[in-house]
Amino acid sequence: MPDTLTITDDRTGNTYQIPIEHGTIRAMDLRQIKTDENDFGLMSYDPGYINTASTKSTITYIDGERGILRYRGYPIEQLAKESTFLEVAFLILFGELPNREELDSWEHDITHQTYLHEKLKSLMQSFCHDAHPMSIFIASVATLATFSTGARSVDDPERRLEQVKSLIAKVPTIAAFSFRHLRGLPYVYPDTDLSYSGNFLNMMFKMSEAKYKPEPALERALDVLFILHADHEQNCSTSTMRAIGSSKSDPYSALSGAAAALYGPLHGGANEAVLRMLQEIGHVDHVPAHIKQVKTGESRLMGFGHRVYKNYDPRASIIKEIADRVFEVTGRNPLLDIALELERIALEDEYFVSRKLYPNVDFYSGLIYQAMGLPVEMFPVLFAIGRSVGWLAQWGELLTDPEQRIARPRQIYLGADQRDYTPIDKR
Ligand code: ACO
Repeated sequence: MPDTLTITDDRTGNTYQIPIEHGTIRAMDLRQIKTDENDFGLMSYDPGYINTASTKSTITYIDGERGILRYRGYPIEQLAKESTFLEVAFLILFGELPNREELDSWEHDITHQTYLHEKLKSLMQSFCHDAHPMSIFIASVATLATFSTGARSVDDPERRLEQVKSLIAKVPTIAAFSFRHLRGLPYVYPDTDLSYSGNFLNMMFKMSEAKYKPEPALERALDVLFILHADHEQNCSTSTMRAIGSSKSDPYSALSGAAAALYGPLHGGANEAVLRMLQEIGHVDHVPAHIKQVKTGESRLMGFGHRVYKNYDPRASIIKEIADRVFEVTGRNPLLDIALELERIALEDEYFVSRKLYPNVDFYSGLIYQAMGLPVEMFPVLFAIGRSVGWLAQWGELLTDPEQRIARPRQIYLGADQRDYTPIDKR
């Protein structure tokens, strides 16, 4: 079977043979298809990049039809069961699971860079008392660049690794400080004796106790949630990280931009939107009326549907199990009954079945975060902590890929043809 695509241009009758590699044709191979010499050549039109591969990658594999997610070949189910977030971070960034020595040194390096510059702390304190923590997070991550002399040396692998470690270490501190700020509480400094997730809980919830002891079930649940969110190939925020990185900006600016993309309700803001939706529904009896509203197009069922998963989201099943374990400690979240009823009705309803709409990772994650005592504003911030690893791995892959260039899509111009400027009093 030849690995080529033969195209006949019916405008000219010309035939072209285009190579197929990895089930893909190169968009630039279309450019030779012209009606005459002055023609720019054929382009593909793909709003939202639904069917356009922007990169080759070896990090994350997703099969949306079969509900498969793997990091560097390892199934998400195995990693969520056996691994820790920092081990998965190492895997995602460097391609292989670490040996004991590598893991110890990795954990040590991350743990000992968790402190922020006091000036960044002061800057965070100057935000308005009710500022959204995600906005504080976005601004503070970008500001980290001002404390790092090597931030712009993105082509130096050693410098890059320093920035990667620094960001992975500092994003939970920024996230926790933004939460304490929202609550009007003093910021809690990192405790280097604790695990990555245990320390995060410490910075969030420590009060007057001399030493904070994280509840093991919550510490583990948080670690697994970070694992589940660690990477998801070329999604909106990762593509933003790559787009910013492609102009060789520093990683702090790029990660801040990625977090801004994550903030929207159609992406990482979805778990916040799910909680608000469940609160608005208010009672199991109101679920059918809400489903009706969704079907008439008045609203969307938040936490349902996914651009790539059209069967089920494997992360959603893992999260449902974690939810049970968390609720054993925290008590059952009363919104859970509404969520379960929504899921039950939607999975039987022709509207959702025919459009292949299933619960995604965010349908249950918000319920867990809420049971842990986190306000909805913190949900996208938690997502950003886990996803920072994926953003940085994808950024590193971009910078070392000789085929990558500055991201610069084309457009189809449909505006006015040339016209002459009219002075304002003649308009
Ligand atoms: N509720 C109701 N209908 C929906 C939903 C939903 N959540 N999602 C999609 N649909 C419908 C659309 O109205 C459309 O119907 P139509 O064909 O009759 O017009 C059809 O399903 C296809 O929808 P698209 O918007 O084309 O799907 P797309 O792949 O572009 O969108 C998205 C994916 C953005 C995730 C969408 O499903 C959505 O808005 N979901 C709710 C928000 C959400 O949960 N986002 C989190 C995603 S996961 C993550 O970011 C980690």
